[in-house]
Amino acid sequence: MRVAVVGATGAVGRDLRRLLELRGFPLDDLVLVASQRSAGKVLPFAGRDHTVRAVTEPDVFDGVDLALFSAGGATSREHAPRAAAAGAVVVDNSSAWRMDPDVPLVVTEVNGDALGSSGAPGARKGIVANPNCTTMAAMLPLKALHDAFGLVGFTATSFQAAGGAGQKGMDELAAQVGPLTDAGELLRTDGAAAAKLVDHAVHEATLAYNVVPLLGTEGDDGYTDEERKLVFESRKILGLPALVVSPTCVRVPVMVGHAIALRAVFEDRVTAANAVVSMEGFPGLVLEHVPTPLEFAGRDEVAVGRVRADLFDDHVLNLFVVGDNLLKGAALNTVQIGEELLRRRLVGAS
Ligand code: A2P
Repeated sequence: MRVAVVGATGAVGRDLRRLLELRGFPLDDLVLVASQRSAGKVLPFAGRDHTVRAVTEPDVFDGVDLALFSAGGATSREHAPRAAAAGAVVVDNSSAWRMDPDVPLVVTEVNGDALGSSGAPGARKGIVANPNCTTMAAMLPLKALHDAFGLVGFTATSFQAAGGAGQKGMDELAAQVGPLTDAGELLRTDGAAAAKLVDHAVHEATLAYNVVPLLGTEGDDGYTDEERKLVFESRKILGLPALVVSPTCVRVPVMVGHAIALRAVFEDRVTAANAVVSMEGFPGLVLEHVPTPLEFAGRDEVAVGRVRADLFDDHVLNLFVVGDNLLKGAALNTVQIGEELLRRRLVGAS
């Protein structure tokens, strides 16, 4: 079993390496891949040094059984088909392939069956897609609730961490905190002047001591690509093509850990108590009265709390979901897909 990690030097890549080791993924050989900039760099794995290779090296995917990609959409679009053509099953963490009808979009606890089974793989292109980090966290409670009450739609307002924009997103926030803390009174008396004390390039506005209600690229209708992911990926994962989703994505000054306020609408009547019962024991999901992203940073589980029946509509539930965007939102689900592919004998079976 030869496994490649593409984007091995990035924030998700670091977690992919850590989780492959921690979870004892049965690999014989690991190929670490990044851009030309990182070629030759040495990274440790399982007590051994591994030299990073450039994705452009012609033979980099030779003999690779499983290729875990987390190096951005452009890299995946160009190089995932190369890896698949070389015989690897690709698990791609970017948005490049998610909506392709021949590519399963999988949250392991929710729709692992989309991977197919031995002899009938769901990934006809040799590529499996890992969903968007915000969508991913919302899927666990919404699947549990859908099975119990029939989901019609949901309104989602996200509170997304700086780490959703990779290491550079966290670096930009970290660099802003000190100068703005030092700005003292200015934060209260002239916030616009305080915001100008620091630079921002990754986030749409100064993020420290702030919230920024735009992330991603705006379309003609005013919704961002990040917001559209919540609509179309949710429909695909849950197998509900008519699901009515109303999304607003917001960046908040949290390093790691996305949160989402959900207002979910059901076919059946729902109470908070019944909703809690339906979510209890769902794999990968924990109930916590006040889940916060900081307290779930570094944890595998998605947390759901503040479960409340709507005050006016007994088919509606309000809830708050939190998950580590680099773990369940990215690296963990990617490795879990690899484990599920193994279990289903869809990789490394030759
Ligand atoms: P590199 O470190 O060589 O730039 P993050 O999400 O934390 O920003 O990490 C992005 C990851 O994707 C890094 O490992 C980065 O490698 C990799 N990457 C970015 N652009 C490319 C590219 N054009 N080809 C291959 N890997 C890339």
